Amino acid sequence: MNDFDLIKLRDFIAAKTGIFIDDDKLLKIYKRKFEDFIQKQGFEDFESFYHHLVFRKDEYLLQELINLSTVNETYFFREEYQFKTLVEEVVPELDSLRSSRDSINILTAPSSSGEELYSIAIYIMEYTKEFFAKRDFVLIGIDIDSMMIKKARNGVFNQRSISKIPPHLLQKYFIQDGKQYRIIDEIRKGLTFKVVNVMDFYAMKKLGKFDAIFSRNMLIYFDEKTRKEILATYHALLKSHGYLFLGHAEKVPEEMEIFKRVKKGESIIYQKA
Ligand SMILES: C[S@@+](CC[C@H](N)C(=O)[O-])C[C@H]1O[C@@H](n2cnc3c(N)ncnc32)[C@H](O)[C@@H]1O
Repeated sequence: MNDFDLIKLRDFIAAKTGIFIDDDKLLKIYKRKFEDFIQKQGFEDFESFYHHLVFRKDEYLLQELINLSTVNETYFFREEYQFKTLVEEVVPELDSLRSSRDSINILTAPSSSGEELYSIAIYIMEYTKEFFAKRDFVLIGIDIDSMMIKKARNGVFNQRSISKIPPHLLQKYFIQDGKQYRIIDEIRKGLTFKVVNVMDFYAMKKLGKFDAIFSRNMLIYFDEKTRKEILATYHALLKSHGYLFLGHAEKVPEEMEIFKRVKKGESIIYQKA
């Protein structure tokens, strides 16, 4: 692939997914990945591949290309202080504001292979017993990467992924199978994972309304304009007084007054204004 082809493909991926691959990574990591991919998919050259992708709108090819382009790093109890804030501050506050019939709905966008949403489920079961006993919790995870969603639904994790879970919780919520750890069915079956692109506003709207949205470690890969569009989508999906949790390197720009920045426990989070 020449530089022109590489940039064309990079821009196509950014327009579809929001993921912007910088020049350095494009040349050092992705060039080779893309060339191997095009060859493996049976195309003779970049032109025929690109034509198929863009003009024939081959959905399978697009999904495979997206799966190749994402960075899926995640693990259980990552930035754990935010889960503490959720159960100690946010859930009790929203419980007092909502009608007794309402469920507490939580979205992780993106969920990658599910560790974040499963961590939230463990935290809720473990530390919100009084609320958990009296109302439903709806937990949904979405990601654009279909392989990650498959892995999340499967609920089987390796040693690296579970290394931050305290031993007593690991024993309580997982079944060890050799070097693998399977989350117990009681949790796995209660969660929903779906392939959804956060840039697809209508697909996002269909997910429903949420009390809390966790969007951690994805917006850093997006440009500023796209970031603002996605933050506006989260705002539309949050119920009144709902909260947005971002990764430690991410923030809502000050000029976006649709969110109020608040400190709760050890976390800086954003409340729907
Ligand atoms: C680094 S992981 C973060 C996972 C998890 N939130 C965490 O903090 O551990 C980033 C994820 O964002 C997903 N992603 C990237 N662009 C997306 C998009 N447009 N819609 C939904 N998910 C996307 C990727 O597939 C990847 O799994």
